[in-house]
Amino acid sequence: MTERCDLLITNVHAATMDPSLPGAYGAVEDAAVAVTGNKIVWIGPRQELPECTADQVVDGEGQWLTPGLIDCHTHLVYGGHRAGEFARRLGGESYEEVARAGGGILSTVRSTRAASAEDLYRKAEPRLKALMSEGVTTVEIKSGYGLELDTELKQLRVARRLAQHYPVNIITTCLAAHALPPEYDGRADEYIDLVCNEILPAVAREQLADAVDMFCETIAFSVEQCRKVIAAAQKLDLPVKVHAEQLASTGATRMAANAGALSVEHIEYITDEDIAAMAENGTAAVLLPGAFYTLKETRVPPVEKLRAAGVPIALSTDLNPGSCPIASLRLMMNMGCNLFGLTPAEALAGVTRSAARALGVCCSRGVLHAGLRADMALWPMETPDQLAYEVGALKPADIFVGGLHVTA
Ligand code: NIG
Ligand code: FE
Repeated sequence: MTERCDLLITNVHAATMDPSLPGAYGAVEDAAVAVTGNKIVWIGPRQELPECTADQVVDGEGQWLTPGLIDCHTHLVYGGHRAGEFARRLGGESYEEVARAGGGILSTVRSTRAASAEDLYRKAEPRLKALMSEGVTTVEIKSGYGLELDTELKQLRVARRLAQHYPVNIITTCLAAHALPPEYDGRADEYIDLVCNEILPAVAREQLADAVDMFCETIAFSVEQCRKVIAAAQKLDLPVKVHAEQLASTGATRMAANAGALSVEHIEYITDEDIAAMAENGTAAVLLPGAFYTLKETRVPPVEKLRAAGVPIALSTDLNPGSCPIASLRLMMNMGCNLFGLTPAEALAGVTRSAARALGVCCSRGVLHAGLRADMALWPMETPDQLAYEVGALKPADIFVGGLHVTA
């Protein structure tokens, strides 16, 4: 470390989430963190801090510092809402029934196609701000409510514009293979050709997506169709992730993992063979307890087996107008524990280190470590277990994004 740094945070306990340090949180009590530019340049016990001067010194007052939280799966740019559908589901209709009757994702597709970019931007802002207020410093945003070139581009441009105006990292994903648009009714293979030959290349040309996602499910696309989308994405050098096995066992997870997917998401219905493929290929599991809760699912993902196989387990909001209109990653940590049996430390790993894995950005963030981005949140709590335990009142006292002190 150089003798001079931009920012020095002292008198904190650090939940580094560094797996090479002892304990589930990789905790360093009475720590100091030095930042230069957008990176951590030193972190460790305060008494070992090398002699240095800093432009800004923050006294952490004995609070806990964590990596900035990462929401690795959201659909937060969309038009309209689906409160009516919520009422129908409360009345007994299922998510699948609503979808098959032309509601569900297709209802949001109609609203998103009709909305201006400005309108989409204004509606997305409060959702993004809600996540940021909880210490989220990286958010993934998917398209997938356009299902035609122009609207997919519109959604992705709105996501990129949010990144220019808010102190948060935004990673974008093209989810053009989210549902079959009505104009392609009965012609799913032709729509997949459009996605592979036109939509993805155009998105790649404008560098609007950092990854490609797809919905492999009985109510969406088949394993064979998704295999084609993966091949097209990989030809464009884009990493892939798959919404897989939320509603039924399809073989999507196995196929995606063997094709080198970064992550598979939902995965309530995966089998032992799927888990073996994930472990072998380093594919992360992204669990979405908010969608499980909203849809009143009963089949929980096989957490114990994922854990035993050493698969990184991420947690995310899935923030979207249908299956999870809940803009709180902290609530997902709580649900991850209460509904899926994660430990509080696994829940924090799920929204930091493992979420970074699921996005393919673990070389730059997700852990407090020298050389990684200085994305951090300072919490007024006595133990990091409180992050999964408490919902609502516990907010970050300070947030740092790329070393910049952002008002919490
Ligand atoms: O992750 N599964 C597909 N996509 C979203 C739901 C989108 C919607 O219902 O609008 C999900 O649950
Ligand atoms: Fe989703």
